[in-house]
Amino acid sequence: MANTILEVRGVSKSFPGVKALDEVTFLLERGTVHALVGENGAGKSTLMLTLGGVYKPDSGQILLEGRPVDFESPGDANQAGISVVYQELSLVPNLSVAENIFAHRQPTRGPNMIHWERLYSDTRELLRRFGTEAIDPRTPVGELSMARRQVVEILKAMSVGPKILILDEPTSSLTDVEARELFANIRKLKAQGISIIYISHHLSEIFEIADRVTVLRDGRHVCDAEVDNINEEFLISNMVGRKIGNIFGERAEGDRIGEVLFEARDLARRGCFQGVNLKVHRGEIVGLAGLVGAGRTELGRAIFGAEPAESGQLFLESRPLAVRSSRQAIRQGIGYLTEDRKSHGLYLDFDVKNNLVSNHLRDFCSRIGSLKPGKIEEFAEGSVRDFRISTPGVNQILGNLSGGNQQKVLVSAWFGIRPKFLIVDEPTRGVDVGARSDIYSTLREFARRGVGILLISSDLPEILGLSDRVYVMREGRIAGELSRDQASEQNVIGLATGVLTSAKEHSI
Ligand SMILES: Nc1ncnc2c1ncn2[C@@H]1O[C@H](COP(=O)(O)OP(=O)(O)OP(=O)(O)O)[C@@H](O)[C@H]1O
Ligand SMILES: [Mg+2]
Repeated sequence: MANTILEVRGVSKSFPGVKALDEVTFLLERGTVHALVGENGAGKSTLMLTLGGVYKPDSGQILLEGRPVDFESPGDANQAGISVVYQELSLVPNLSVAENIFAHRQPTRGPNMIHWERLYSDTRELLRRFGTEAIDPRTPVGELSMARRQVVEILKAMSVGPKILILDEPTSSLTDVEARELFANIRKLKAQGISIIYISHHLSEIFEIADRVTVLRDGRHVCDAEVDNINEEFLISNMVGRKIGNIFGERAEGDRIGEVLFEARDLARRGCFQGVNLKVHRGEIVGLAGLVGAGRTELGRAIFGAEPAESGQLFLESRPLAVRSSRQAIRQGIGYLTEDRKSHGLYLDFDVKNNLVSNHLRDFCSRIGSLKPGKIEEFAEGSVRDFRISTPGVNQILGNLSGGNQQKVLVSAWFGIRPKFLIVDEPTRGVDVGARSDIYSTLREFARRGVGILLISSDLPEILGLSDRVYVMREGRIAGELSRDQASEQNVIGLATGVLTSAKEHSI
């Protein structure tokens, strides 16, 4: 086809024990947005890494504008006009925005002298083109929010002027509002004739932004469709190979919400949150919604003792709770599932089994303190089965698992501590529909056993689908509290953005 810019012909790629891609075909038309969907481990990222020159296919061919290409490195792919924004962000935290965007390609003045003025002005120009002038080119990337880091990552990819831009789960750390901005930018790029491959587990986004969609399952191409001709159910059944009903599940009949389990009174930490009062009952799932930057993660980390609050009181089972460190929190029965699995919570160089037991190693020690490898293995195998973690075995290095399966390991690792109160921060980021429904049913199972859960999430359907009650945070304060009946998309967004000021005043 004259309009085809990229063709993947029967590409296969194996890793030890896994055939990640099995004779995959894929056609990308010029100036279109082409979505790629599939369960965790389906092979999406592997295909993108192959197109991006990181992996070489074992067999098959890649044609760019009709000519076979054979990339030896990401630099080759870049040069040929393919830019990839990888799923796991690749920025260097202590370098500035500008240095990250133009890494290895800084404008120079004379031999080996970076032309700082130009570096900053080029960066400013790029930021302006994408309507993100609010970001200062000199800020170290480590000081930016996840959402902003994502923006920088995309600008880095765009700065080489690609013909094809690949986005691997770009919205997994963005809120609805920020995702909308990203979509506006994608439309701009498309209008300029750039072709885009878009990977996401948020199927609603596919219908919003994509023209065509390809489904992968177990490394194989399952189907291709025009987005206008299909619906979400069609995508899910092709991805999963089974039907999935209400993924959020329902509170089982007879399951009661008990007495107050956890309470925070007048909690504050300068620059993060103030005057926070909240309660979580036994067996209750309480949503904590708000825009990125509203202070939700900081609040969660304060309760967990990771960065304690400066004032206010905490109570667990009506007793004052003094947690000065995460270790103390865990000992008291508090778990915290982090939103940033890469820097906290997981050890990517370690195997799956050691990650699964890392939060409660003590359970696997003999009386004299030596570890019992057999017990660890048995526990890990049980978790892999229960949570349907897709891995060749418990000895696989965690970093080799697909992103969604890493997330499943993170979730399962916390369930091992048998918590009383569990804070879960973006628990399903990057997780496919099947796994999502598994994680939700596990959360419900915990609530059924009397665990109180504080669910921090930017995924509105998730907040609305799971929560018994919702607090909405805005600029470090609780802007309002919504009962299950009051919790609608409109009310949550209204409180989060300040359009509504209090649930009571507006009798919502
Ligand atoms: N470097 C590697 N070494 C070993 N196995 C790997 C490696 N990279 C990927 N795999 C395996 O290949 C399969 C495909 O993984 P891939 O990351 O492409 O999935 P994905 O579709 O992107 O999933 P997700 O939605 O979770 O990101 C998985 O089974 C994964 O464990
Ligand atoms: Mg992936």
